[in-house]
Amino acid sequence: MQHQRVLVLDFGGQYNQLIARRVRDLNVYCDLRPCSMPLEEIRQYAPIGIIFTGGPNSVYDAGSPHIDPAIFSLGIPVLGICYGCQLIAYTLGGRVVHSAKSEYGKRELTFVRRSPVSEDIPEKSICWMSHTDHVETLPAGFEALACTESCPAAVYGDEARRIYGVQFHPEVVHTAYGERLIKNFLYGICGAKGDWTMRNFVAEQVTRLRAKIGGQKVLCAMSGGVDSAVAATLVHRAVGENLTCVFVDHGLLRKGEADEVMEVFQKKLGMRLIRADAGERFLAALAGVAEPEQKRKIIGAEFIKVFEREAKAIGAVDFLVQGTIYPDVIESGTGKSAVIKSHHNVGGLPSVVDFREIVEPLRDLFKDEVRRVGTELGLPDSVVQRQPFPGPGLAIRIMGEVTREKLETLREADAVFREEVAAAGLAGSIWQYFAVITNSKTVGVQGDFRTYENVIALRAVTSVDAMTADWARIPYDVLEKVSNRIANEVPHANRIVYDITGKPPATIEWE
Ligand code: XMP
Repeated sequence: MQHQRVLVLDFGGQYNQLIARRVRDLNVYCDLRPCSMPLEEIRQYAPIGIIFTGGPNSVYDAGSPHIDPAIFSLGIPVLGICYGCQLIAYTLGGRVVHSAKSEYGKRELTFVRRSPVSEDIPEKSICWMSHTDHVETLPAGFEALACTESCPAAVYGDEARRIYGVQFHPEVVHTAYGERLIKNFLYGICGAKGDWTMRNFVAEQVTRLRAKIGGQKVLCAMSGGVDSAVAATLVHRAVGENLTCVFVDHGLLRKGEADEVMEVFQKKLGMRLIRADAGERFLAALAGVAEPEQKRKIIGAEFIKVFEREAKAIGAVDFLVQGTIYPDVIESGTGKSAVIKSHHNVGGLPSVVDFREIVEPLRDLFKDEVRRVGTELGLPDSVVQRQPFPGPGLAIRIMGEVTREKLETLREADAVFREEVAAAGLAGSIWQYFAVITNSKTVGVQGDFRTYENVIALRAVTSVDAMTADWARIPYDVLEKVSNRIANEVPHANRIVYDITGKPPATIEWE
């Protein structure tokens, strides 16, 4: 069965993935594609609606992305957001002007004319603006539907052709009725039926995987992370015993995590799961290495070697499962940025496995959808709501050389921090929270004795996508409890500090 689909054309704005996620959250499938997508492909894609995203340009800039005007003759409803809104007006003969001052932040929006796009939105509400140019004169056939103080056509539309523009950002939470506006466009204008649900997704994927794999053999590398766990569980639901999972335990996971992987997937779900205990091997390979990128490289290479050994023992398989998700697949409309850290993932695995084809059952899903699929499949919150955790694990939270003793200290301190954040009910509102063992020792006094032990740093950040982050305002009494407990319960730690740096200028991890 083919879902109804919406096409989100990416003009390079910072909220583009957010727009796509909002549409999906409203139970309508959508794809984010570069704004250069040829008209013929758009026609073949057969969307029920098209959304133009925002972007950093002005329609008058040399080289700014434009659009083939024929897109407006396809008979498909269009919603333009910010740059997308200016582009519609400009392309169809309206006038966009450059304001002397940029408008940024919350503004009062007033609807001056009712429309299907404003269904159930009050006459006055708050919207969130971020622009310099705005539409001054509308093309023929269009009418202003809402305005703000400085923007005469903050929402405009041509009801007959079902083409709309909004100058503000309906996708951000600061726009009070933003989600409602997107819903109105999808359901009231594009005729969406809401056929994109995680329950449907699971049912369809299971059928599809069964048909594709049948009785053939499948291999999957499990890391303990959400994506590989959900991908494996989905494939297991479809083909059961024909799936073999290999869990490379590099000994750098958090306290209790490796055992939990075995408990959930082997004992509870009954998966064929092989645990490769490679902690000693990783420690040996990391001995004497302090440089973060060097550590990452060693861990990535060892991981592949261990997996290769296990895969060889299993022999040839037909399929290899990968937990690729939609953000990894999207070809963004914008350029590539500088590499700050080399993230290791399982991308190198195909070269060491004897297989015919790769299976990526999650490649259409955003992270929050992956979590919902996990829940739908009966995975516990401890797996599904797991905070992001780097592939190199605790090795990049141990400054300097990784040693057994430092690992032990860090694991315990981290467990205390996690327990207390959870107990305070803060886990859901913090993106990542963890302990770091700094490579410095300080003098302390415990009992009547002088100590000379490690400084533990606590790091907790809020973020939406890990690209930027703010340090989390954890209440002092929670921090106090964590500090007392670490000082009392964790060996070789005598000082606890809290990291109050955002990203930028810092990164989330310390290495
Ligand atoms: P940074 O530290 O760059 O982290 O602000 C951004 C996000 O990426 C995670 N991270 C990694 N993930 N391998 C990974 O798989 C890595 O080497 C790595 N380094 C950082 C980090 O935990 C955060 O979520």
